[in-house]
This record gives sequence, C-alpha cells and structure tokens, in this order.
Amino acid sequence: MIHSNVETFRWHDDTQCLEIIDQLALPETERYITLASVDDYARAITDMTVRGAPAIGITAAFGLYRSAREHWQSPDRLANIQKDAQKLAATRPTAVNLFWAIERIMHTVQEHIGDITPDAVLSDAQAIWREDIAMNEAMAQHGAKAIGNVRNILTHCNTGALATGGLGTALGVIRAIDAHQKSLGHPLHVWVDETRPYLQGARLTAWELMKDQIDCTLITDNMAAHFMKQGLVDAVIVGADRITKNYDFANKIGTYGLAVLAKFHHIPFYVAAPDSTFDCKIESGKDIVIEERSADEVVMIKGKRIAPEGVKTRHPAFDVTPHELVTGIITPSGVINPNK
Ligand code: MRU
Repeated sequence: MIHSNVETFRWHDDTQCLEIIDQLALPETERYITLASVDDYARAITDMTVRGAPAIGITAAFGLYRSAREHWQSPDRLANIQKDAQKLAATRPTAVNLFWAIERIMHTVQEHIGDITPDAVLSDAQAIWREDIAMNEAMAQHGAKAIGNVRNILTHCNTGALATGGLGTALGVIRAIDAHQKSLGHPLHVWVDETRPYLQGARLTAWELMKDQIDCTLITDNMAAHFMKQGLVDAVIVGADRITKNYDFANKIGTYGLAVLAKFHHIPFYVAAPDSTFDCKIESGKDIVIEERSADEVVMIKGKRIAPEGVKTRHPAFDVTPHELVTGIITPSGVINPNK
C-alpha cells in the first residue's frame, strides 16, 4: 500500500465544513483553513489556496453542497444553486475537472431537488473525492509498471496529494516507483522543476516529497536540458489539466518545452491523468482556453519586485503539448499510446 503524509482535505461531519490545507502558506507554515460559504470556496480556487486540477474539482463539488444547504428551503433553490455553480465555474478556465465536477453535482441537484434534505448532494461530493483517491491509486500502479525501474525521473509543477484528493497523479506514480525501488534497495531520485512563475515545484512538490522521504533535488526550469544531456534524466512525468479528443493536453506552463527537450534527448515522456481530466468535447489542443494570470506573479516573488517597475509581461499559466511528443498517458484503466 502506497502512503502519503500529506492531507489536503478534511471533511467535518459535525460542522458540515470542508477544511483545506493553505497552499499559499506552504512550505513555511502548515495550516488548515475552513471554507464556510460559497464565496470562501470560490475565493480559495481563484487565489490558489487550493490548486491542481482534481483538487479544484473536489473543492467546487463541496462548494455546491454548501450552496445546496444554504438554499434548500428556498422556493428558488434551483436558480440560486445554479447561480453559485456559475460563480464557481468562473474561478479558473483551463482545468476541465472543475467543470466536470460542477456538471456532475448539478445533475445530482436536479435529480434530488424534491428531497427533504440535500444529503444526496453531499454523498456525491464525497463520492467525487473517494473516486479520485481510487483513480490515483490505479494510476500509480499502472504508471509504475509502464515506466519500470528508473534511477532519475523529472517532474514539473505539483501533481501530488496537494493537487488531488489522494496520492496524486504524476506524483502518485512517482510514489509507487519509489516504494517499489526502496524495497529493492535502490530508491528513486526525483528532479523537481521549480516551475516559474508560481513556484509550485519549489514550494509544494519539494515539500511534499521531503515530507514523504522521497529523494529529490530542486532545479530551476532552465536546468532541465543540462541534466538531460548528461544522461541524468531517465523519464519525465507530468500531470494534465485538460486532455482533448486527439490526446493533446494542457498543463502547467513549461510542460511543452520539457516535452520538446525529452523528444530531442530520446527520454520517455509520460502524462498521468484521471478520467475527469479528459474533455471529449474538444477536438484538439488549439481550442483549450489558457488562463492568463496576473503580471504581478511574474515580476514579484514573495512580495519583492524582481523586474523594473512598468515592464511589460505575459503570464499564460498553462501551455499545450501536442500528443506527438507523448510516450504514454497513464490513466486509471491503463496506459494509452496517443500515437497509435
Ligand atoms: O495552476 P495550478 O497549480 O493549478 O496547475 C496545476 C497543474 O498544472 C498540474 O500539473 C495539473 O493540475 C495536473 S496534476 C493534478
């Protein structure tokens, strides 16, 4: 059984509230905050107190349960809950898991709108979380089998327990490979891309791996090519925020560059994603909406300006990697070769 010491969500039956680990405070401070209103849920997603595609889907699902509780006795309950669904959907545009979770919960709301209590909505939010845990475990097993024994693996952004309800997507696979290799006496080593500009790798992945005693080295994003050339990267594994019908996918900005580098150096490049990340309504990557975030996140680090006042910047938070660069997509039901 693979294990993680990181707990992202805590559900409290007594208060009917979801607590989330505050990812803005990590790695310095490990603290939990309670989400007590629909606005709290929406704000937590927008300001990235919680982030990572499956994690924001789970958060939105519980946010809609909060809305259902608030409005269930009102004659306009469906309209009010729909309004809150729109609020939650307007938080971040790229990860499809958010919209998938909202659509699923709204379906449950409509189906149970005549019930005395919104218990069915809570059950469905909890099921989304439970299913994510199970999908993480299945991906970890399939991924570890497909990738086999490797000494050094490189990952980008944070795809771990912090980004999901369970072990993580790509980081879940990394956990499984490490557990297996530790049992054989040759643990895995992970290169952690710092992931500019938001630093999910430096702040979150390094913290998560260290907490679980997985050997890792933090590098800046522009060092990846150097270590690949030296033969020190045996495989690359990342997560995804949306995978289209032709298997192009959006993930954290910098992923596309890594995929190009991996191809040039003949290094296998894997993507791990649960079912909720697949968007069959979109044909190819060119139709994915890419979130543009604030320029402040590029010119400021921890409140300190690192570029001249007034300089022009861009901040696409994601990029799209064409399926041609992908060796395998690790899913809960097995590994897809997107180029067959
Ligand atoms: O902007 P973020 O931190 O939400 O972006 C997260 C990623 O890009 C992850 O790689 C992605 O959500 C897939 S892993 C769960």
